[in-house]
Amino acid sequence: MSEKRTKIEELLKSTEFGKTVTVKGWVRTFRNNQFIAINDGSCLNGIQAVVELNSLDEGILKRLNTGASVSITGELAASLGKGQKVEVKVKTLEILGDCDAEKYPLQPKKHSLEFLREKAHLRFRTTTFSAVFKVRHVLAFAIHQFFNDRGFVYMHTPIITASDAEGAGEMFKVTTLPFDKTPRDEQGAVDFKEDFFGKATNLTVSGQLEAELGAMAFGSVYTFGPTFRAENSNTARHAAEFWMIEPEVAFNDLDDNMQLAEDMLKYVIRYATERCPDELEFLKNRLLEEEKQKPQDERAELDLLAKLQFCLDNDFQRLTYTEAIDILRNSNHNKKKKFKYIIDSWGADLQSEHERYLVEKHFKKPVILTDYPKEIKAFYMRENEDGKTVRAMDILFPGIGEIIGGSQREERLGHLEKRMQEMHIPAEDLCWYLDTRRFGTVPHAGFGLGFERLIMFVTGMGNIRDVIPFPRTPKNAEF
Ligand code: 4AD
Ligand code: MG
Repeated sequence: MSEKRTKIEELLKSTEFGKTVTVKGWVRTFRNNQFIAINDGSCLNGIQAVVELNSLDEGILKRLNTGASVSITGELAASLGKGQKVEVKVKTLEILGDCDAEKYPLQPKKHSLEFLREKAHLRFRTTTFSAVFKVRHVLAFAIHQFFNDRGFVYMHTPIITASDAEGAGEMFKVTTLPFDKTPRDEQGAVDFKEDFFGKATNLTVSGQLEAELGAMAFGSVYTFGPTFRAENSNTARHAAEFWMIEPEVAFNDLDDNMQLAEDMLKYVIRYATERCPDELEFLKNRLLEEEKQKPQDERAELDLLAKLQFCLDNDFQRLTYTEAIDILRNSNHNKKKKFKYIIDSWGADLQSEHERYLVEKHFKKPVILTDYPKEIKAFYMRENEDGKTVRAMDILFPGIGEIIGGSQREERLGHLEKRMQEMHIPAEDLCWYLDTRRFGTVPHAGFGLGFERLIMFVTGMGNIRDVIPFPRTPKNAEF
C-alpha cells in the first residue's frame, strides 16, 4: 500500500473536514488505546489520530509503541480535544517499522540533555531538538538570503589547506603518511615531500585569507563552511568542528564592518523570530522551566523572546578596548576581586568573565569592542596610528560572550610584511596572500560569525553540543 501522504503541517491548516487523508510518521505517544500522537517532522507539532474502539486488530494496537513508524489513512475531522483543531479518524493503519519499547531509548518522559547527547542519532525526534535544528536551518537560510540580497558572492574556500589563517597553530594535520614509519629528511624531520600533497597540510581554521582574494575581484564575498580548531578548551562554547560565516568587503573600513555585522545579526535574528514562532515559543518555555531550577537572583531578567526582541530594538554599544579596560579596572567586581583574572593593566587579554561583565552587568546589551592591543590579535589586522593597537572588532552577546571576531585588514604591504616578520610567519608561505597587497591593494574589512554561537543565542541552548547535530569536542567524535 502506498497512499500519497499529506504532510502534517498542511493538515493542521486544513478545514476540509470529511476528506480522506493519509499521514505517515512516527508515533510519539499512544494513550488510552485510542489516541496516537504522530509526528512527521514537517512542523513542530504532530497530529492526533483517533482509533475507534474495537476497530483495529489487538495485535496492531500492541505494536503502536513510541518510535514506531506508521501510515494512517482516515477522515480529517474537527477535533474536540484541547490544543488542536484537527485530527484524523483512523480507517486503516499500517505499521511501517516496529519499535521495541524495551530497547528504544526515547521513552515519552523527560530526558536530560546530557543523556540525549549520547543518543544524538535519535535526538532529532524529540521536540527540543526538532526545534533547535529547525532554527539552525532557518538561520542558515537567512544568512544566504541576507548576503544574496546585498550582492555578495558566496565563495567556497578550501577545507584542506597548507596555511594557518589565524597564526595560532591550533590545527588538525591532514596526512596519508604512515604513523609507524614516517619518512625522514637528512635532518631527521618528517619529510612531507612524501606526503599526499607534497607538503604539510591541515584542516582550515578559517576561510578568511582566501575570502580576501575573492573580495579583491568581486568586491563583496562571504564564506559559510566548516572550520576546525584543535584547541583543547572543554567549554560549553567551543567545538573542534564548527561552522563559520566570513564576509569580506573591499573598500570597507572598520565602521562599515561593524554596521554590516550589526545589520546581519539583526536581520537573521528577526528572520528566525518570524519563521519559527512555534519553535521559539517552545524553546522559551523550555528555558523558563530550566530557569526554575536556579536561585532567583541567577535567573534571566528577560525570557527568550523578549531577549531577542531587545537585541533587535537596541543599537549595539560600541567602545574601544581601552575604554573597556577602564570600565573593568574601576568596577566593583574588580576591586572586590570577584574576577578570577584581575584587570590591573592595559594590554591584558579579556577573559570571558570580563566580556560577560561588560555585556550582562555594565551595558546590559550587545557590545562591539574595537581597537585591541596588537599583541593579542592576529597578524592581518590593520595597525592604528598609535603603533600599539589594531583595527580589530569583537562583538559580545549576552550569555554567549564573543559571537563575532573581525577587523579592517592591513592593506599596506610594508606594514603587513613587518608584522608577519615580528610574529614569525614566513612570507614565502603566504606569498599568494601578499600578492593582493602588491597588485592593486585596497582598504578592506571582514569578520567571522560563529554559527553555533548564533544558534545558541537564538535558541537559548546553553551548550554548543546541543546546537550542532554531531558535536566534535575533546575526546568525543561519536557518530
Ligand atoms: O575570532 P575568530 O578566531 O576569527 C577568525 O577566525 C577570523 N578569521 C574571522 C574573520 O575575520 N574573517 O573566530 C570567529 C568566530 C568567533 O567570534 C566565534 O564566534 C567563533 O568564530 N569561534 C568558535 N565557535 C565555536 N567553537 C570554537 N572553537 C570557535 N572558535 C571561534
Ligand atoms: Mg576571536
